[in-house]
Amino acid sequence: MSDLYIDYKGTLFPQMSSSLEDLEFVENEFQVRDDDVFNITYPKSGTTWMIEILSLIQKNGDPTWNKNVPNWDRAPWIECLGIAQKLKLCEEHPRLITSHLPKHIFMKTFQDSKAKVIYTIRNPKDTAVSLYYFSKMSVFYKDPESMDHFLKSFFSENIPFGSWFNHVKGWMEMLGKDNFMFQTYEDLQRDLRGSVIQICKFLGKELDDKAIDSVVENASFKNMKENKMANFTLLPPGYMDHEKSPFMRKGIVGDWKNNFTVAQNEYFDKIYNAEMRDFRVKFPWDT
Ligand code: A3P
Repeated sequence: MSDLYIDYKGTLFPQMSSSLEDLEFVENEFQVRDDDVFNITYPKSGTTWMIEILSLIQKNGDPTWNKNVPNWDRAPWIECLGIAQKLKLCEEHPRLITSHLPKHIFMKTFQDSKAKVIYTIRNPKDTAVSLYYFSKMSVFYKDPESMDHFLKSFFSENIPFGSWFNHVKGWMEMLGKDNFMFQTYEDLQRDLRGSVIQICKFLGKELDDKAIDSVVENASFKNMKENKMANFTLLPPGYMDHEKSPFMRKGIVGDWKNNFTVAQNEYFDKIYNAEMRDFRVKFPWDT
């Protein structure tokens, strides 16, 4: 384990943003409310995109909240320092809560609640590429060194929030439950408007056409890239170096093709196919 990470029950967390005490509190004591809405992802799968969508839906398409309050205050990451305590005082209804926690260490009070979960997943090849660049520009992750080196840790538990495979398999166990919605980054790209309508339906929110148009416009890559409340340029200096790689980097499907060598792609396919062999759900990138 590196000094940059802490180990909570076998899962690593960046020590810049999490503490064992907070993680313990989140798992064992945090009180989930039935109307909570959870935005859950493996890192770099569309977390911040979903925050924009959810907070715009929450305000019926009015972008004022999104343009004036940082995303980490609108839908805080519950595993981060002090957030779970702060959320007890949150007056938003519903509370929008973001998390990268794997399912097996998620809060115990969630199990019997009616709280809703939107789990967003992205082609792991693009997730890996995005995380590779994020690891170069942020203090939360170890320097990836080379892509070869990085891919080895991506496939292991030796990376914050554990391996992509275990994260996805754990959360997808909820598929079919009324309070679980599974969303892909690729579908958001293909049809953002249609996805927003589905998300509203899941949340029981009725937005008129104008409000939906506003959600789609304000959650576009271009608008988010320009919005200081969404692009992380407001973080204190030292956390992210946007000169090395901007947080809102490319926002496209298939960037792995520009980043993997033929050998890296074959290595990826081999591990992916072995790990997902018995998995019953097929994803848009599965052939
Ligand atoms: P890239 O690094 O491939 O550009 P997360 O929010 O989970 O950390 O994920 C960040 C990734 O989502 C980045 O991917 C970022 O560009 C992309 N992203 C964020 N908002 C987006 C949007 N509105 N449209 C498309 N991609 C978006």
